[in-house]
Amino acid sequence: MRLQLDSRRIGVLVSGRGSNFRAIADNVKSRALDAEIVVVVSNRENAPGLEEARHRGIEAIWISSENTDRERFDERVIAELTKRRVALVCLAGFMRILTPAFVRAFPNAILNIHPSLLPAFPGLDAQKQALEHGVQFSGCTVHLVDNTLDGGPIVRQAVVPVTAADTVQTLSDRILVQEHRIYSEAIDAVLSGRCDVSGRRVVVHEEST
Ligand code: GRF
Repeated sequence: MRLQLDSRRIGVLVSGRGSNFRAIADNVKSRALDAEIVVVVSNRENAPGLEEARHRGIEAIWISSENTDRERFDERVIAELTKRRVALVCLAGFMRILTPAFVRAFPNAILNIHPSLLPAFPGLDAQKQALEHGVQFSGCTVHLVDNTLDGGPIVRQAVVPVTAADTVQTLSDRILVQEHRIYSEAIDAVLSGRCDVSGRRVVVHEEST
């Protein structure tokens, strides 16, 4: 099945630092990525990603996740995204598991980035898990979001070596450079209708010249 979205309007969900959001926004600005970031949403009022968005003139919304259940929180986020006709939702360090209702609201139209070569090391502290496991290569993965934790179909991956001297910090830094590159590439592949999904497999067709 070819993934086809209605528009190039994206919404980015962040909980923290927001460096992936920054990289995406930089690529949009330089026109390396043909997309429009219409809103940034966070569950954390003080997420640096929100401030960064405002600074760039992008609408930034905080939706508190305190004293509310998961369903109600997600309903509010879905409402803000649909109101702005977001076609693709990009999770960028969004530290919450989406409800099935959220996944249903954006079928095959939610991307997430994870700092490991999935299916290895899903969940929290992926870089620490990789070091402790003793792998010699790790990396990052952009995948479609389904109802499994970091388990949806893989759109793009990048590999980095793990060295004997690595700490969680140095490995994370090396992986992050690749995250910033492949997230925009994956977004572009989806927005430009170059992804065929068949079960778990995503085939990304090269850009036509
Ligand atoms: C990244 O490592 C991403 O892979 C993971 O959370 C981190 C978010 O970093 N899901 P940032 O907020 O984009 O800087």
